[in-house]
Amino acid sequence: MPHSLRTERLLLRPPTVRDGAALARAVNDRAVLRNTGTWSYPASAEYARFRIASASGFIPSVHQSFLVIHGTEVIGQCGVGQREGEGFEIGYMIGRAWWGQGFMTEAVRALCAHTFRTMPAKSLWGGVFDDNPASKRVLEKLGFAYRGPSAPVWSIVRGRSDPGSDYELIRERFRP
Ligand SMILES: CC(C)(COP(=O)(O)OP(=O)(O)OC[C@H]1O[C@@H](n2cnc3c(N)ncnc32)[C@H](O)[C@@H]1OP(=O)(O)O)[C@@H](O)C(=O)NCCC(=O)NCCS
Repeated sequence: MPHSLRTERLLLRPPTVRDGAALARAVNDRAVLRNTGTWSYPASAEYARFRIASASGFIPSVHQSFLVIHGTEVIGQCGVGQREGEGFEIGYMIGRAWWGQGFMTEAVRALCAHTFRTMPAKSLWGGVFDDNPASKRVLEKLGFAYRGPSAPVWSIVRGRSDPGSDYELIRERFRP
């Protein structure tokens, strides 16, 4: 059963559809959503509720998502899921107002620790658009290693496929 995670500054807890408005408020920004593959912009509360509801049916032993909360405020989200035949993949985003304060590194560190503790993952993958250096830096700070170019990645907001890179974190290399 998914449960909440605490870090020094953040609470990570499973979302419910009631969180849709708060999540949309935090991330409804082209600069944020253009770096995701599957979110559209603008992202309404209804769309965020749809995303949360869709993920609620996933099997918790191999797929979990979390709201990232600072104080009482939803500031982003992160999650992990098993890709068929390809290991476990993480995803994350945080509203622009909170960029550059180490929040997502802190959140994803907790997500990785939780994944290695509770899921049968030997390694974790992160896929990043090549024009997203902040996300690459988050992965590098956590010990992810560059594995090479991915196939071009489709982004709904960009309306095209752009070059991306794959990063991998081997369990033994993880620094909690
Ligand atoms: C990428 C993202 C998650 C980073 O979140 P964050 O909370 O700002 O990340 P952190 O503060 O923990 O770390 C960001 C790092 O990137 C660095 N960085 C930021 N902009 C940069 C740039 N243009 N070039 C190089 N490094 C950059 C920061 O300096 C920091 O590194 P440092 O700690 O060594 O100084 C956030 O910008 C975001 O949500 N972007 C939109 C969605 C997204 O990209 N999701 C990931 C999809 S793969």
